Amino acid sequence: MYLLDKATQLTVDRSTLTDLYAYPPAPGLDGRCHLVANMVTSLDGAAMVGGVSGALGGDGDHEIFELLRELCDVVLVGSGTVIGEDYGPIGGDSDTDTAPRLAMVSGSLSIDPAQGSVAAPTTVIMTCASAPEENRRRLLDAGATLVDCGETEVELPLVLSALADRGRTRVLCEGGPGLLANLYAADLVDSLCVTIGPAVVGGSAGRITHGPDGAPARQMRRAHVLADDEGYLFTKWVRA
Ligand SMILES: NC(=O)c1ccc[n+]([C@@H]2O[C@H](COP(=O)([O-])OP(=O)(O)OC[C@H]3O[C@@H](n4cnc5c(N)ncnc54)[C@H](OP(=O)(O)O)[C@@H]3O)[C@@H](O)[C@H]2O)c1
Repeated sequence: MYLLDKATQLTVDRSTLTDLYAYPPAPGLDGRCHLVANMVTSLDGAAMVGGVSGALGGDGDHEIFELLRELCDVVLVGSGTVIGEDYGPIGGDSDTDTAPRLAMVSGSLSIDPAQGSVAAPTTVIMTCASAPEENRRRLLDAGATLVDCGETEVELPLVLSALADRGRTRVLCEGGPGLLANLYAADLVDSLCVTIGPAVVGGSAGRITHGPDGAPARQMRRAHVLADDEGYLFTKWVRA
């Protein structure tokens, strides 16, 4: 065991932080994406407070959140997070860059077409051929881009290969717990960044993964643990 104490503290500058969170060089050469998930939790394991996760993070968490967005090609999220956190569009590098920057997973397509990110040119909605036709039509009429990744259900490996086909191989999953559980069940998570906040929030909030019982446990290996003066721990874990 090791003690994280004042005497051994080293300040981590921006360049070191970038190295610590960097994707491996040239992901996608083997035809597959590299998927990093980033989540925040309270000390007692809550993934949200009052239906959103914002209150759990501090300045350091925001810095890592923004850094990971800069380092990735595309942000992958479940529809519950897009709706619950009211995601806005994520921009391309220029006005003419319409490569996907936000990939939203939804099997039901029961998303309000007026939701802020739905019709953005850099958003793609990953769904399946059997999604309700009426919902599909409403979203298409609103200008959304839909990609079918499976016939009767959304197959997450097909979601990642559809992103890789579009040159988006550095994938950042920002949750939520439902999508992350499914990604773990399909063994698609390469690394997991977890910010642990110093508050005990109680209540009935779920954890950072939430899915059916019986999924196999996935072993992760600790890559690093950082700390700040506000009491947060910033951890990164990689596929063991
Ligand atoms: N602590 C954190 O770091 C963190 C991060 C993100 C979100 N959150 C919180 O999590 C809450 C939302 O949780 P959530 O579990 O509902 O969010 P979610 O995982 O973002 O969304 C779940 C939805 O994603 C779609 N989905 C996921 N996997 C799918 C699959 N394999 N096939 C088809 N559809 C799939 C489904 O959409 P359809 O129902 O449309 O089919 C499902 O209902 C919010 O309160 C948010 O604040 C916390």
